[in-house]
Amino acid sequence: AFEVELARTGEVLEVPGDRSILDVVRDARPDILSSCEEGFCGTCETKVLAGDPEHRDTILTEADRERGATMMICVGRSRSPRLVLDL
Ligand code: FES
Repeated sequence: AFEVELARTGEVLEVPGDRSILDVVRDARPDILSSCEEGFCGTCETKVLAGDPEHRDTILTEADRERGATMMICVGRSRSPRLVLDL
């Protein structure tokens, strides 16, 4: 498990191993947009303000991944204990 912090409100949510970040964030932000939920459409692309995302999508380029500035939260995970998202 790891935590995500929603930067706009400071809420901190725990993401257990069996739930996606998108799913957990949706509890706090029911209006969050998604479509494929499998990492290929780009709808859920979210800015990462801090932390080390583990990318599992099929959209970002290698350079994008290294930059780590955005991630697809429907499939992505975290290598760091906490990710701070621009949400
Ligand atoms: Fe399609 Fe996340 S909802 S990439």
